[in-house]
Amino acid sequence: MSRRAPFARWLDDTNDVTQTFLSAGQIPGLVNLAGGLPDPSTWPAPELADFAGRAVADHTQDALGYSPIDGLPDLRDRIAADYSRSDLRLTRDNVLITTGGMQGLELLGKVLLNSGDTIAAQSPAYLGAIDAWKPRTPQYRAMVLEQNGFDPHGSMTGAQFAYTVPNFSNPSGRLVPVDQRRALVAAAQATGCWLAEDDPYGHLYYDAAPLPRMLDLSATGAPVYDGQVIYLGTFSKMLAPGLRVGWVIAAPAVITATTTAKQGSDMFTSGLCQRIALQAMEQGVPDRILPGILDLYRARRDALCAAMATDLSDLFTWEVPTGGMFVWAVARDPSLDTDRLMKTGLDHGVCVSPSSVFDPLGRDRRAIRVNFTLNPPEVLAEGVRRLADATRMELTRAA
Ligand SMILES: Cc1ncc(COP(=O)(O)O)c(C=O)c1O
Repeated sequence: MSRRAPFARWLDDTNDVTQTFLSAGQIPGLVNLAGGLPDPSTWPAPELADFAGRAVADHTQDALGYSPIDGLPDLRDRIAADYSRSDLRLTRDNVLITTGGMQGLELLGKVLLNSGDTIAAQSPAYLGAIDAWKPRTPQYRAMVLEQNGFDPHGSMTGAQFAYTVPNFSNPSGRLVPVDQRRALVAAAQATGCWLAEDDPYGHLYYDAAPLPRMLDLSATGAPVYDGQVIYLGTFSKMLAPGLRVGWVIAAPAVITATTTAKQGSDMFTSGLCQRIALQAMEQGVPDRILPGILDLYRARRDALCAAMATDLSDLFTWEVPTGGMFVWAVARDPSLDTDRLMKTGLDHGVCVSPSSVFDPLGRDRRAIRVNFTLNPPEVLAEGVRRLADATRMELTRAA
């Protein structure tokens, strides 16, 4: 008699690499360069505590009761107003509040994908997005934006949606130039493919003024935005990830569909956290703390890249990112297997993220993602020294 399988089939398609680097932060003495974590010193904790108290006392129903699925109307209005421009007209009907940006990704999978549908994904791609869409069993088409002759129209034809992180991609740290943003928007409009713009790092520009969002570039001046871009935002890197408050901005039909999907996920995002985030916006907290965050992270970016130039330049190549949280380093020697390097690195007291987890097919084993926002300069330098030792050991083993 055949037995029923205990778990769904998509779970067979997972590996231990992700679990290993996600839990590495617990190892004492380890230099964790693997995560994408903000420095806790940037969180405006006293102010958020004050807003939490006031939310419970003054907005008890919002904070402690059941809330609307699509979010508190005041917060939706505030986000719509913040993103509106003369030709980008947004109302609350364009905004869904989500439980972190991560839920926005998951809901996109729920409302846009049938099994086997195609996602055109910027390559390498954010691990969390790959994970969120796994139960939908999609096909992937890699969009290597920096490749000569990259063809947005061809990439999007027949795909259900395209997925991009144009500001300092996780994992590559790459900034998509404005002409390419325009080309992606034009291709989405011509093909009818949805264009997901995932933007947790859009405020973390260290060297220049921010580029226009694809959401802005897709605006037509319609009385209510009805374009192809589905924009995902979050307070995680701007205020604190523990709030778990994010948002989707899109055409009203997309908001209606994702709201239906959210009903069956978590019903609504914590009203307490939404009220805290709204008060923070009303008091201008994100704008006030941003300059300090930029100074801190810029110095750490510089410290990491200086240490890498000293200890890793014969082993890896990379570009210095102009924002975000990551450096993407590609091994000079193609025989280096970075899944193995991650494990050898742990033995040397350092953890980095291997490229295989950012490839939907798990094949790319030549690169690593190195985070610079969590650790001070001296710890970054020590981590890089350990990484150099681990890499030399791995190369010797592979020879
Ligand atoms: C590209 C990208 N998208 C989405 C997220 C999800 O962030 P959160 O759920 O904390 O808002 C992250 C987090 O690191 C990310 O790097």
